[in-house]
Amino acid sequence: MEPIVWTEGFSVGVSEMDNQHKKIIAMINTLIKEPKATTNSITVSDLLSDMIQYTQEHFQNEEALMAEHGYPLKDQQSEQHRTFIKKTVDFCSAVEAGVDIVPQAMLDYLKNWLVHHILEQDMKYKPFFLARGIS
Ligand SMILES: [Fe+2]
Repeated sequence: MEPIVWTEGFSVGVSEMDNQHKKIIAMINTLIKEPKATTNSITVSDLLSDMIQYTQEHFQNEEALMAEHGYPLKDQQSEQHRTFIKKTVDFCSAVEAGVDIVPQAMLDYLKNWLVHHILEQDMKYKPFFLARGIS
């Protein structure tokens, strides 16, 4: 599977959010490039739980920024974030339980979800924050 390549097209206009997205992408890419990612391994569950933890913190930061400025689509965002965390926590439990079919489906999900979420959902807040002078 090809890693995710961050380009300017991924920029949501708020540098702190871009930096956090880049770090999540790097963490997912590590999972994609991890040679043991297709088998059950401690490495994968460790990488996965680190990624979940960091992503959870990122979602909290993102939602706090939205709350602070009264972003109208915050509920939609929170809902998507919750779904992602639930799904990744389930994946993580499955990996820990030794379901070795999970990793490929997991990587597909992580990669697709993140790319679509940034490009379609997060991108909607770009003009909103831009108009408020937040970058
Ligand atoms: Fe988001």
